Amino acid sequence: MDSAAVAALICPVCADEFVQPAPEGTALVCAAGHSFDRARQGYVNLLSGSGTHFLPDTADMVAARDAFLGAGHYDVLAAELAQTVLDGLAPEPAGREPLVVDAGTGTGHYLHGLHRAAAERAIPLHSVGLDISKFALRRAARANPGTANLVWDLWKPLPLAAGCADAVVVVFAPRNAAEFARVLRPGGRVVVVTPAPGHLAEIAAATGMLGVQPDKEEALTAALSGWFAPEGTRTVGYTLGLARAEVAAVALMGPAGHHLDAAELQARVAGLPETSNVTAAFRISEFRLLPRQEWAPA
Ligand SMILES: C[S@@+](CC[C@H](N)C(=O)[O-])C[C@H]1O[C@@H](n2cnc3c(N)ncnc32)[C@H](O)[C@@H]1O
Ligand SMILES: [Zn+2]
Repeated sequence: MDSAAVAALICPVCADEFVQPAPEGTALVCAAGHSFDRARQGYVNLLSGSGTHFLPDTADMVAARDAFLGAGHYDVLAAELAQTVLDGLAPEPAGREPLVVDAGTGTGHYLHGLHRAAAERAIPLHSVGLDISKFALRRAARANPGTANLVWDLWKPLPLAAGCADAVVVVFAPRNAAEFARVLRPGGRVVVVTPAPGHLAEIAAATGMLGVQPDKEEALTAALSGWFAPEGTRTVGYTLGLARAEVAAVALMGPAGHHLDAAELQARVAGLPETSNVTAAFRISEFRLLPRQEWAPA
């Protein structure tokens, strides 16, 4: 993890900064001596000791997501998202480089695409990836070694300094509007990707993946409205040709993966044609942080 990313972090126990230099060290340690070990794979578990009641994605769910995303099925989305985030970065004051927080980074797939696109534009981007699943972060740390990849619960106060980030990216993950507002610099943005109506509709019933509900745009805007103004939305839609195993993977990698039975799923996809045409439909929504005096939390 690079030192600009570490500089954005605060200790979850006492909110102090972490002592530098930490990037290649074996632990993050704050001035008061609170210490968080860096896992062999490169991520840091900041939740250690405090626990959480959220259900992290399992190793099987993460493996399914990694295989599916790695096959390139959502690359169109990754490219559109990267363009949206980079186009929206405000000019930096002298000496400062942009920092993006990927909330619910998962396997780091979209953040990896963002860094690649930033490199093509010679933007010196730094990043923090937060996720509650250590299985996901093992892969994220491999995909994005310069990122501060942290096990954290997005519903807790974020282990990030106020005003440290230029953008928060949220791809199919929880949105903690108050905390996103706190960690963004003035004029910063939240870019949210949600499933749009019709997303994976052809296979939802066939796989028992009934948990996928498109987020209503109004609900998203309402949840962020005390701190953010909507700045535009666009949909990205196309048709995927998925083999049976890929249909199973896409079912397993989402929230339904927590309760789908693998054997039953195999039996269900066995009845599908060799290749299924499946709709991919996403919404990319941008929100700009309101000036602090206009914040009006619900
Ligand atoms: C559907 S996945 C999306 C992952 C990634 N953004 C992607 O699109 O590949 C949702 C992610 O949010 C994480 N997540 C769910 N609840 C969370 C929470 N309360 N705090 C942190 N991460 C959470 C899960 O572990 C999972 O990696
Ligand atoms: Zn501390």
